[in-house]
Amino acid sequence: MTANEKLVLALPKGRILKELAPLLSGAGIEPEAAFNDESARQLRFATNHPNLEIVRVRSFDVATFVAFGAAHFGVAGNDVLMEFDYPELYAPVDLDIGHCRLSVAAPKELLAEEDPARWSHIRVATKYPEITRRHFAARGVQAECIKLNGAMELAPNLGLCKRIVDLVSSGATLRANGLVEVEEIAQITSRLIVNRAALKTRPGEMNGWIDRFSEVADAA
Ligand code: PRP
Repeated sequence: MTANEKLVLALPKGRILKELAPLLSGAGIEPEAAFNDESARQLRFATNHPNLEIVRVRSFDVATFVAFGAAHFGVAGNDVLMEFDYPELYAPVDLDIGHCRLSVAAPKELLAEEDPARWSHIRVATKYPEITRRHFAARGVQAECIKLNGAMELAPNLGLCKRIVDLVSSGATLRANGLVEVEEIAQITSRLIVNRAALKTRPGEMNGWIDRFSEVADAA
């Protein structure tokens, strides 16, 4: 990274973007029009700041782009931060958006018949294999994780696993698929994340953005 290259802000696709819009504008960032057009295939967007551009990627990939310094800063949930545990990432601001929880869920019908206290091994479908393994290992249970990228809620009913670990917001997806939440692993919100090397090499600019986002998050 050199001091005169443009700063790159990595933002997640999907529902967080709507919640993020007022924070971006509060921080004085106005992306070019195509950014708000979900049908646009463009992935890289100019802003009203000549030295700042935005890239739009999947939520897990925000952390990867920032950790490897391909983007200087970004927005990611602490679910993603816990899963990867990248030492290169610093998460100085809780943006207080994207509230949900990461939970273990199970088929409602099977709960009465089970005795999980006797389990030494369990199969779990999840996008979060590391968090899941750590969570179950802490109580002496070995979790065999089946990595899925979406539609986790289908897996128990089709016999793929007895548990899923996934994000729960309203709980509607679980209910619609006959599942119930049995344990909460963590409360989730979106954070501003920063590449530590960028913070060291471009402290003026990076601290400026951290301060702006932190003021906007406090004011919300
Ligand atoms: C998330 C999550 C659940 C759902 C939970 O998926 O994986 O499926 O939202 O929300 P609810 O409790 O309000 O029903 P999302 O819709 O973000 O899509 P994804 O599967 O692409 O992550």
